[in-house]
Amino acid sequence: SRRITVRDIAAAKRRGEKWPMLTAYDAMTASVFDEAGIPVLLVGDSMGNCHLGYETTVPVTMDEIAILSAAVVRGTKRSLVVADLPFGAYQEGAVQALRNATRLVKEAGVGAVKLEGGERSAHQIELLVQAGIPVMAHIGLTPQSVHAFGGYPVQGRGEEAAQQLLRDAKAVQDAGAFAVVLEVVPAELAAEVTRSLHIPTVGIGAGAECDAQVLVWTDMAGLNGGRVPKFVKQYAALRETLGDAAKEFAADVVGGAYPAPEHAFH
Ligand code: KIV
Ligand code: NA
Repeated sequence: SRRITVRDIAAAKRRGEKWPMLTAYDAMTASVFDEAGIPVLLVGDSMGNCHLGYETTVPVTMDEIAILSAAVVRGTKRSLVVADLPFGAYQEGAVQALRNATRLVKEAGVGAVKLEGGERSAHQIELLVQAGIPVMAHIGLTPQSVHAFGGYPVQGRGEEAAQQLLRDAKAVQDAGAFAVVLEVVPAELAAEVTRSLHIPTVGIGAGAECDAQVLVWTDMAGLNGGRVPKFVKQYAALRETLGDAAKEFAADVVGGAYPAPEHAFH
């Protein structure tokens, strides 16, 4: 069976079907989600926090995104793979954005790219779409702007901020984006944005009315240590499961229970 494309995504909105998206950063995990039927996988720059050990997404490089995107593409057969353009890879303008997005499409084989910003990124989106590269937009809480935000506060609160979010949503749709992520905005505002657009909204901390939902897979599976954001639902406790497995292995080795005769060659 062929890969999901942006045409399938557009058809889902027309039919009123909701769909899930998860992040993925390696071939093995991506193959699990591909086999589980997750239609869209995001090689998010959240790899900075959960995979590469950075404090924020800001240091993530094009090389890191390209290498892990190629791995995710190799690990999947059916999922549409979307790669984030990292901070610094599109802020100089549309030509820089096109150069870097082209690299991810040609080198890594992704089917679409994502970049942050509404009105401020419309030029970049337009040129990529003209060049034949599908673009997912990302507005509301845009983590690459952590230094400007002074953290990760809820976005779109108050009449002025709400109107700006609606303008940003309209701007990315007009620029040709095939979908738009709404991150950490009030549910009522996300619902209004969703009703006002013909492209699907992908919510994260944006309530139940969005057309799709995305979570960082290590949050969803309970692998991350530390504080879990309010909007995350943990569907597994992988950190505990994996830690227990490591402790049992260690105890077996120290105690001589592993390897047993059946694990040895004679
Ligand atoms: O990098 C990421 O994981 C993202 C999603 C949270 C939308 O951008
Ligand atoms: Na991201």
